[in-house]
Amino acid sequence: MMQQVNIGLVGAGTVGGALYKALTERADVLAARLGVRLAITRIAVRDLGKARSAGYPNALLTNDWKAVVHDPDIHLVVELMGGTTTAREVVLAALGHGKPVVTANKALLSAHGEDLFAVARANRANLYYEASVAGGIPIIKVIRESLVGNRIQSIRGIVNGTCNYILTRMKLEGADFPDVLADAQRLGYAEADPTLDVDGHDAAHKIGILASLAHGFWVRPEQVHVEGIRHITRLDIQSAAQLGYTIKLLGVVKSAKASAPKPASASSRRRSSSQPGILVAVYPALVRNDHVLASVNHAFNAIAVRGDMVGETLFYGRGAGGEPTASSVFSDLADAALDLRHDSHERVPPFVAHASGAIRVVPIDDVTSRYYVRLSVVDRPGVFARIAAVLAKAGIGISSIIQPEGHGGATVPVILMLHDASHTALSKAISQIKRLSAVRDTPTVIRVENTDD
Ligand code: NAP
Ligand code: HSE
Repeated sequence: MMQQVNIGLVGAGTVGGALYKALTERADVLAARLGVRLAITRIAVRDLGKARSAGYPNALLTNDWKAVVHDPDIHLVVELMGGTTTAREVVLAALGHGKPVVTANKALLSAHGEDLFAVARANRANLYYEASVAGGIPIIKVIRESLVGNRIQSIRGIVNGTCNYILTRMKLEGADFPDVLADAQRLGYAEADPTLDVDGHDAAHKIGILASLAHGFWVRPEQVHVEGIRHITRLDIQSAAQLGYTIKLLGVVKSAKASAPKPASASSRRRSSSQPGILVAVYPALVRNDHVLASVNHAFNAIAVRGDMVGETLFYGRGAGGEPTASSVFSDLADAALDLRHDSHERVPPFVAHASGAIRVVPIDDVTSRYYVRLSVVDRPGVFARIAAVLAKAGIGISSIIQPEGHGGATVPVILMLHDASHTALSKAISQIKRLSAVRDTPTVIRVENTDD
């Protein structure tokens, strides 16, 4: 029986460095707990000349990932390099050798997960990915295993630490977006390309993975509606607070009714009308201050999962950073090591089509929501009447209006809270409002999340 699992680490930056340090410190405790020793015996990095604080022995380091993956003494590969090109080659090469792979790479899974899981199955080698969603929160295991008896009715979560850190500091300190983003990068929260964070793509990768697990079919990246947080200003955050809300970037998976497409044949008509739908989306939203997600601050993540048996559940913890993410990598390492030791690869399969064909991902166009709209308008009589007329014609009601004082100048902000409207109806009305001569700049539109649906 295997006594030691030799790990090849590909990528030793924020997460890889934290993993190496922690494993060095607690190898004995883990060996006692697992009955098998975990040892990182080779490490691939990009730049051998870089100064590193994790204390790697030089003999372990190489800048040739193939030397790690193809090494016959390596039993298990941990991919912590990020990206979707070389990382894909690394994972495919390891799985091709029948070596299990642990990854934290949600971008890779989002782009190529379906193929990678198929290759893993074909090679009887597991692909483990607990660290890919929500850093230190063990949410993958929860949805894949712990809630396996449930029909998942909704998932709503703060799944990007960087955006939550930025929005929190903008709210609590009135800080400016670029300064806070620089801090998030310095603290190791942001992706190598931080546009993935602030434009919502990182959260979209994660919510796509959770939606796929929850519903048993692969949700393709292009099926996820994505909006980021670049357009959110301090004024939006303050106005939301005045109205009793906090702005959060949410990942959402929830039931949604789609208006039936016009099918060509009677059989496809029957199929489309009977299919339930889910919305899979990332967008900034006003969350009521009495909802628990509103008080999740800084780089913390929280995910509310509702199952038909269990009801509401909530998972909270650090969503980014080296150590919390390495904590999730350990969870996978433990599973992988025990699987290797017992020559088993049977886990709850990740994406068995328990719902395939029965549920479809619906576009956001027909999904209704309440909205917050901020306009910049010339302060003259009759402007508001013209805006209200456009909304009335579109059948969209106004529930409240704020025109903050003290904005002397050519334009003033007007904030509207709107009753339920479909994405399409609201978008049409906003483009008409934008064309009014008194309206300046692009209106800011933010959903108001109904956490009950
Ligand atoms: P990082 O700090 O940028 O580290 C990346 C590591 O990969 C570096 O050691 C780099 O080498 C190495 N690398 C890059 N290209 C390579 C190549 N061609 N061959 C060999 N090594 C290569 O990234 P990170 O923040 O640790 O993130 C790693 C992964 O974890 C990403 O997929 C990320 O999305 C995911 N993740 C990160 C967090 C977080 O909070 N940071 C949380 C959850 C998941 P050098 O050191 O020589 O540059
Ligand atoms: N950049 C990611 C975030 C890291 O900020 O959430 C954790 O996946």
